[in-house]
Amino acid sequence: MEICRVDLKEETGNSYDIIIGAGLIGNLAIELKQKPVANAYAIITDSNVKRLYGETLLKNFQAKNLHAHLISFPAGEKSKSRDTKEKVENEMLNLGFGRDSCIIALGGGVVGDLAGFVAATYMRGIPCIQVPTTLLAMVDSSIGGKVAVDTMHAKNAIGAFHQPKKVIIDMNFLKTLPKKELANGLAEMIKHALISDRDFFHFLEKNIDKILNCDLETLEQAVKRSCEIKIHIVEEDEKEKGLRKLLNYGHTIGHAIESALKYKISHGQAISIGMSYAAKLSAKNGFLDEGSVIRQNNLLEYIGLPHKLSHRKLKPREILEHIQYDKKIINKKLNFVLLNSIGDAFVSDDVSMEDLKGILGE
Ligand code: GLY
Repeated sequence: MEICRVDLKEETGNSYDIIIGAGLIGNLAIELKQKPVANAYAIITDSNVKRLYGETLLKNFQAKNLHAHLISFPAGEKSKSRDTKEKVENEMLNLGFGRDSCIIALGGGVVGDLAGFVAATYMRGIPCIQVPTTLLAMVDSSIGGKVAVDTMHAKNAIGAFHQPKKVIIDMNFLKTLPKKELANGLAEMIKHALISDRDFFHFLEKNIDKILNCDLETLEQAVKRSCEIKIHIVEEDEKEKGLRKLLNYGHTIGHAIESALKYKISHGQAISIGMSYAAKLSAKNGFLDEGSVIRQNNLLEYIGLPHKLSHRKLKPREILEHIQYDKKIINKKLNFVLLNSIGDAFVSDDVSMEDLKGILGE
């Protein structure tokens, strides 16, 4: 078992641990019985995870006489909406959850973001324990306190910063994870390597077969390193005023593709396309060498992720329309993450919509 600490500087009391290991979920009820964080627990999950792990977790809580209820919503990005948030809140109110409650967000990115956002606003904020069940949620969305829902305009358009009380990463969840979901998480891991750790990129290249074959030991090393990269960034810049913007590498175009396609593309596929355009622009503007662009795209391709979107599916104009709603546009200036080299990214305010039009049209 590994414990990684997230030491927050602005509000040190909000610092928390990320615990990584196999079989951790089995001990959660025992742990909360010994060291309670609330008087009542709302286990929020989706329809798939409810069946796989939610019902067992509820039974564990009940066996320890912990006051708990399981609340679920249909699986899928479509549920990451204001409508689902309201339904979950109404259910919690009907069940009598008060300010002395804690939310257990059990699931992938959609569950973590939605349940975390409920926690941020329910009775003006209650604690939330993130229990990510997908690779993507383990290395990205469960860490750092960004919680949100999507709207028809843009992904994550309505949300808050609400740091979790704790993150529990149980590696055993990855044993039942579909290959497509593994690729989704790998896209974020590759992003972490590309923006800040050349050696980690090399590790991923070298161990990609083991990772794709779900070798838990290798995966745990990769998850830990990926979490450390994200932790370092969040510690330095909790509210995305500077350094944290680097995590948006591939996401400006990626998020626009997701919302333009009404979330019918996976996040991993969308940011893979976004990263390939971002690398191409980095090279075109004289920062990144062509060899590194190829290296990045080869790794993405190897895990089955695309690096181009057919213009028949989506016109550059439609992507650009959705980029207008991006939270990264400040004073009409686009903050676009580019690479100097593998492991070294920077935020450019010198990328115009015209530049993007050019690169998307190629
Ligand atoms: N997923 C990007 C961030 O947490 O800032």
